[in-house]
Amino acid sequence: MDFQNLNYKSDGNMRTRILVTGASGYLGYVICVKALKKYEVFALYNGSIIRSKDQFHWIKCNITDFSTLSKVFYEIKPNYVIHCAAISNVDFCEINPETAYQVNSLASKKIALLSKEVQAKCIYVSTDIVFDGETPPYSESDKPVPIQVYGKTKLEAEKYILDHHSDNLVIRPSVFYGAEHFYGTNFALQMISMLQNGKRVPVFIDQFRSPVSIQWLANSVIEVLELNVTGILHLAGRESVSRADFAEKLTSYLNLNSTLLEKVSYRNQLVAKRPRNVTLSVEKADKILSNPSLTLEEGFQLEWY
Ligand SMILES: NC(=O)c1ccc[n+]([C@@H]2O[C@H](COP(=O)([O-])OP(=O)(O)OC[C@H]3O[C@@H](n4cnc5c(N)ncnc54)[C@H](OP(=O)(O)O)[C@@H]3O)[C@@H](O)[C@H]2O)c1
Repeated sequence: MDFQNLNYKSDGNMRTRILVTGASGYLGYVICVKALKKYEVFALYNGSIIRSKDQFHWIKCNITDFSTLSKVFYEIKPNYVIHCAAISNVDFCEINPETAYQVNSLASKKIALLSKEVQAKCIYVSTDIVFDGETPPYSESDKPVPIQVYGKTKLEAEKYILDHHSDNLVIRPSVFYGAEHFYGTNFALQMISMLQNGKRVPVFIDQFRSPVSIQWLANSVIEVLELNVTGILHLAGRESVSRADFAEKLTSYLNLNSTLLEKVSYRNQLVAKRPRNVTLSVEKADKILSNPSLTLEEGFQLEWY
């Protein structure tokens, strides 16, 4: 097991310990940075090169290696686990279903079990595309019907997490956007980079989601952890838009050249099936959170201030 900066034993510091899986991913890293203000943070990564100047404890661990994963849990004995690690590339999952199952489902089952054993509350980051997209908007009580391998593996993980402890929480975010970029990436950043390099960007006109600001999402994950919310919670933006609408609004906000946006249908363009409209209802989150869901304009201001 490769522990970096792991000096927490010697300083007698008894701060609440949070273990974040997928810390070298887009969401996991932002959560680690925010959690650091209050907590002792243990950041799991698998393969990426890590910025050693970060103040948290980086730990290299493949979550499908259950022996190492168990050692990590028993060594750290976290109070909270925020499980972000996944194969998040939907088309890769479709082509490699066994790998997707091992990482997204089976490793999540083990994480649920280990969290229970060390008495840690586990927050699992699922997805909006556990729904088939035929009857939006979706609330937490709607029945998920995934239509591709990725959604099926994430839904199976949800069940493991919720079955293992009544204190656990599944959050379902929509697609992320944000400016901050240390690990991972997102559609907005890819689009900005392509437009700035004079490249055409295909944008879907007929697939609808509720894009969510990464800063708002990470803050909300920490808040619901502190409020001890349990069960399922949708965390998404207040507006449902197509990629094309989103791209138009962001290019206008950032004064970028929108003539390079190429409006296309998502049908027959992708390997895995995608739901047509997975607009999420955020009514429940809006009642719980101190900072309710954001419009796109508010989210852009938060990210590109
Ligand atoms: N991106 C979105 O818009 C979106 C929307 C809804 C839900 N989600 C969900 O939100 C979560 C975070 O997404 P993201 O976009 O931030 O992810 P990401 O940038 O694709 O990063 C994935 C993370 O998972 C880790 N990982 C993958 N396989 C692993 C393994 N075998 N062992 C240990 N770690 C492993 C990666 O580690 P290495 O890089 O070190 O290999 C990386 O830290 C995921 O669960 C995803 O399903 C994402």
